[in-house]
Amino acid sequence: MLIRDAVTDDWPRIWPFWHRIVAAAETYAWDPDTDEQAARALWMSPAKRVYVAEDPAGTVVGSAYLTANYGGPAAHVANAGFMVDPARTGRGIGRALAEHVLAEAVRHGYRAMVFNAVVETNPAVRLWTSLGFTVLATIPEAFDHPRHGPVGLHVMHKPLV
Ligand SMILES: CC(C)(COP(=O)(O)OP(=O)(O)OC[C@H]1O[C@@H](n2cnc3c(N)ncnc32)[C@H](O)[C@@H]1OP(=O)(O)O)[C@@H](O)C(=O)NCCC(=O)NCCS
Repeated sequence: MLIRDAVTDDWPRIWPFWHRIVAAAETYAWDPDTDEQAARALWMSPAKRVYVAEDPAGTVVGSAYLTANYGGPAAHVANAGFMVDPARTGRGIGRALAEHVLAEAVRHGYRAMVFNAVVETNPAVRLWTSLGFTVLATIPEAFDHPRHGPVGLHVMHKPLV
């Protein structure tokens, strides 16, 4: 599997799984009805570095972004987002994307990474923890999960230096 910088033409290949993940409303605090144009503005924003994971057949199977979580004197704290095609999860793509993005964050001079809103029921919490993130705080009952009801949102942090 290849992980590379995304190009503009990748968006139509990201959008189908982006839509599926956000419409499911289980993992991202974004409007499940986000349309394609708004989604593109959100994910492919010029403020973000965007990456894709491509399988050997050239199919885009996941994507991630890296950006500053704050500005000015706090701009050295990164934020990132990850999506793997739900048809391709559990095969190491998310972990490979995360390792790539963490290395990129270090390369670009970030000194820490923060996730602002990790749904506490998301199996990804285990992935982030295994990569060295800790839960700094949990915003109680912040997220109305379609199956679990009101659940917490973790603020997760990893120092990069
Ligand atoms: C989270 C996500 C990026 C993980 O991608 P993935 O390709 O499935 O992850 P991997 O196969 O690399 O699994 C990595 C680890 O995550 C955990 N994990 C991921 N999905 C899991 C699941 N459905 N059930 C249990 N554990 C899971 C496992 O502990 C696994 O550990 P291992 O590497 O020791 O086997 C992907 O499931 C996804 O896009 N989910 C929807 C969007 C999302 O939640 N993004 C993150 C928001 S914080």
